[in-house]
Amino acid sequence: MNMTKPAVEARQLVKRYGEITAVVGVDLTIQPNSIYALLGPNGAGKTTTISMLTTLIQPTEGSATIAGYDVVKQADQVRRQIGVTFQETVLDDALTGRQVMTYHGRLYGMSKAQRQTKTDELLALVELDDAADRAVRTYSGGMKRRLELARGLMTDPKVLFLDEPTLGLDPQNRAKIWDYIQDLKRRNGLTLLLTTHYMDEAQQLADCVGIIDGGRIIAEGAPRNLIDQMGSDAITVSGYGNRDGFLSRIDELPFVQSVTTAETITQLAVDSGNRRLAEVVTLANQSDFTIEDISVAKPSLADVFLKYTGRELRDH
Ligand SMILES: Nc1ncnc2c1ncn2[C@@H]1O[C@H](COP(=O)(O)OP(=O)(O)O)[C@@H](O)[C@H]1O
Ligand SMILES: [Mg+2]
Repeated sequence: MNMTKPAVEARQLVKRYGEITAVVGVDLTIQPNSIYALLGPNGAGKTTTISMLTTLIQPTEGSATIAGYDVVKQADQVRRQIGVTFQETVLDDALTGRQVMTYHGRLYGMSKAQRQTKTDELLALVELDDAADRAVRTYSGGMKRRLELARGLMTDPKVLFLDEPTLGLDPQNRAKIWDYIQDLKRRNGLTLLLTTHYMDEAQQLADCVGIIDGGRIIAEGAPRNLIDQMGSDAITVSGYGNRDGFLSRIDELPFVQSVTTAETITQLAVDSGNRRLAEVVTLANQSDFTIEDISVAKPSLADVFLKYTGRELRDH
């Protein structure tokens, strides 16, 4: 029997702001030394969930523990277990990178020697050692995110919370942050909870993904398992004309496992995309539906999102 406590456990977490319910009832169990990604569009409730788990705001209802400590009743102990970086950069850019790190260490009661050792080690880890004594205002966006990541690690957290760690970064910088995140799990035994609206990020990084929408987790599992539920291939069609007629006939084809319709696109889960493409096109012609765009792809988390919400999760 596995007696290890979950790193994060939430039971029916709710957060209301007057009329608005930002988080509707989130259940979460995150195993130690794993990466969990909360994936969802803007306004889904990701930041609010992280804020409750990191003791910044109190839940309206429900409960949560971090490494066994209650986020409301044992907030101080929780804070000693965690590191957190938020989606908006909150760095004082008049400071140098090194000062950002050492001030943070002082805030958490680290000795001067500890602060220096840790600062050197972490700035090297995120490859900011050369820029350590420059003012943060001279840093690029990617450098600032790396500095925040380093700062989040200053206190040797067991659980690291990263709210949109790669927001606004170019692909190269995003890939670099991914490497650090994976390293932290592998080498330091960390548990990471990250939020993202980039599905490729969740797919690449996470041991477990929770798809969140409208303040609820609507699907959860290992990325591979979520995707495997989607059938072997996805044909995505858009066009105009008699879509309803086309859809009703498509639904009757034996090789079509499921049909999902969204505002502009229709997606068919099929056994073998390339082999079925021509049949789909023929059927569209026969139903007076004009195809503007048709493509075959292996299903992704984006398709899982579409299936559960009927909406497209657009990367932007
Ligand atoms: N302090 C607040 N007051 C009122 N509404 C809020 C507040 N914080 C968040 N919300 C609302 O709650 C919902 C979830 O927000 P948020 O957790 O920031 O989503 P995400 O991080 O997934 O984009 C949104 O509709 C947002 O407008
Ligand atoms: Mg957010």
